[in-house]
This record gives sequence, structure tokens and C-alpha cells, in this order.
Amino acid sequence: MTLINENYLHLEESYLFSTINKKVEKYQKENPEANIISMGIGDVTRPLPQAVIKAFKKAVEEMGRKETFKGYGPEQGYSFLREAIIENDYKPRGVELNLEEVFISDGAKCDTANIQEIFSTENKIAITDPVYPVYVESNVMAGRGGPLDKKGRYKNITYLPCTAENNFQPPTPEEKVDLIYLCYPNNPTGTSLTKDQLKEWVDYAMDNKSIILFDGAYEAYIQEERIPHSIYEIEGAREVAIEFRSFSKTAGFTGTRCAYTIVPEELEAEDSQGKTHQVNKLWKRRQTTKFNGVSYPVQVAAAATYTEKGRKEIKESIKYYMENARIIRESLEDTSLEYYGGVNAPYIWVKTPNMSSWQFFDKLLEEAQVVVTPGTGFGPSGEGYFRLTAFNTRKNTKEAMKRIKKIEF
Ligand code: MLT
Repeated sequence: MTLINENYLHLEESYLFSTINKKVEKYQKENPEANIISMGIGDVTRPLPQAVIKAFKKAVEEMGRKETFKGYGPEQGYSFLREAIIENDYKPRGVELNLEEVFISDGAKCDTANIQEIFSTENKIAITDPVYPVYVESNVMAGRGGPLDKKGRYKNITYLPCTAENNFQPPTPEEKVDLIYLCYPNNPTGTSLTKDQLKEWVDYAMDNKSIILFDGAYEAYIQEERIPHSIYEIEGAREVAIEFRSFSKTAGFTGTRCAYTIVPEELEAEDSQGKTHQVNKLWKRRQTTKFNGVSYPVQVAAAATYTEKGRKEIKESIKYYMENARIIRESLEDTSLEYYGGVNAPYIWVKTPNMSSWQFFDKLLEEAQVVVTPGTGFGPSGEGYFRLTAFNTRKNTKEAMKRIKKIEF
């Protein structure tokens, strides 16, 4: 009989957000009258900006005319979008990139999951804990995780606990690790790293010849000057880091799908004979075989986010979500719950009052019909916490917080 990839047997039975959905569906079925509000998955609720829609429609029309129709596009993405990214997201921050270093894709989730393929399965992985589950699970699937222990840790992965005790600042690993996943502003804790704090990581990677996989999907939510928007703002980062960005949370593209990954040409890794290779070339090689690019209309739509009107509309949406974050933080002030984050990120990380994350999830669902994300779903150090998202309508945010405030803890 056909054999399976047994690494899959090490995974939890279902993906975090699928487990939550199943629980919510069951509750809704049993309580058809319940008006459930989801403060769980971080999915945008505001429509695409009008500037984006206009460009999107025009590009769709172009696809319907023989003079302007387009078949396969360049696998790495159209240069009009890659140029706009360099000019708008990097140049103003003093970061110089060339076109060959920018790869357009259909999501930071896919890219952060796929990137590990170009590295040896012998590499030691480090993750902050709690963490976006995709980084861990993609490595477990590839065989870098090993079995799950009783504490919820994969044997061969290095966990860097981030808790209130260390102010959610991940400690650099004591041992040498090869690949380090960092996500800042952070999902799920909603906390951020200053330039000096991020520099410690770049220095660690340079000293240990490691590579940082830097997920900047929430960059647009940064409000404070002292927080870097790109890891390349740190000297030396071009030699040690890959950066992932997305239009999903920035411009409402969760259902439209467009993102990009930066792989600098200086970044190198070696083979088993000690010969060095450009990581950029390997990623290009991987993408040209396995990926055919993002559709033309979607790339035109993404480029429209950089027009004057597009930027203005995006700014308004981000302001809207960050006002939700402020409402959540202010409401939590009226409770005995301790909370973190929500200043430079659309997530608020809350300590559960003497109960486990899943017990608290059940209590909130049953007593307030509010769905949150249990912290333990993001890793063992997430136990005793839960995550609230600011991605909701104002009305739902206010109503959810009103209900949470009423609960006796
Ligand atoms: C989350 O809720 O953590 C995000 O929506 C997940 C994602 O971006 O895939």
C-alpha cells in the first residue's frame, strides 16, 4: 500500500482556526438564537479600498480584450508591482533593494510555510513561543520537528518563551540555531521590538551564521516612531534575513491574496561540502517550478494601494482597526484582566483569570457568545492567555467588550 509522510502524524489533529470553527459551529447549532461575535481569527472586515477596486476592474476588462489580454505572467511578479514596493515600502526608510530581490506571491502564509523547503532538514529551527502555528507546522511536516512532548513542544524545535515575565521579548537562544522565525509586530501577542532589540537578533544571526525569517505582515499597524518597519533598517540584516510582507492585513486582501517576500542577494547558506550558495537563487528556482505567479488583475489591484487615493483609504482603515484596539484596551482597563499589545499591532494578548486558555474560551463562548483565540493554540507558553483581534466592526467590538465586562471572573 502507498506510504504516507509520517511527519504528518506528529501534528495536532486539526489546524488551530479549524478547531475553533468546529467548536463555534457546534455551539451555534445547539444555540440557534445566539448572536456570536468573533474576536478570534484575525480577518479583516472592511472592504477593499475604492482605488483598488477601480484598478482591479480595469485590469479585469483588459483580460477580456485581445489587445490587452495576458497569459502567464512573470513567476516573480510584474515589475510594476515590484518597483512600487521598492519605491514605497523600502526607499523612504533608507532601504535599497533591487528588482530581483522582490518576489510577489499569493500570501505570507504560503511563503513562510514554503521557505523551509530550500533549506536542509538537518537545520535547527527556533521559534518564539507563542507563535503563528504555520512556522512550526510546516517544519514538522518536513521532518524538522520530531514528536510532540507532553508539554506541547516538538522535540527538535527550540522554543523561545515570550511571557509577561520577560516582557514578551524573546531571549536569543543559548545554543546555535540555523533558522529563526520572528514576527514583528507580533502575532499573537501584539507586542513589538525596538530597533535595538531587533539588532540583538541580527547580531546573533551574524555571529552564528543563522538566517532570520522575518514576518512583517502587521507592519502597517506600527504607530510608534521607535519601532522599525523592516528588518533591513538594521545594519547587516541583508546578509542574514528574509522578510515577508502581505497586502492582506495592510489593505484588506485576505480574500484577494497578494503578498511579497524579499530575499537579498547577499544572503548565503552552505551545502554539506561547505560551499556557499545564494539563497535568492534557490528561492527563484523553487518558485519557477512550483508557482505560476499571482493573477494580473490582483497585482494591478495591489499596485493601486500605492496611489495617493489608495494610501489615503488604507490609512483610514488602519486607523479604524487601531481605534478598535484602543476600545478593547480601554474596556479591559475596567476589568481585572491583565493585557498586553494592541499599540503597534491589531492584537491584544490577555491573561486568563486562573483558568486554562481553552476553559476561558468555553466560558466566553457560553456566557458572552464571544469567540477569542486560546493562547495555548499558539504554543505552550500561550497557556493562560487568550488573544483578541481588533479586526471587526466598531459595533461588534463595542458589543463584545460590553459582554466581556459583564462576566464575573
Ligand atoms: C490569525 O488570526 O492569526 C491570522 O488571521 C492568521 C493568518 O494570517 O493566516
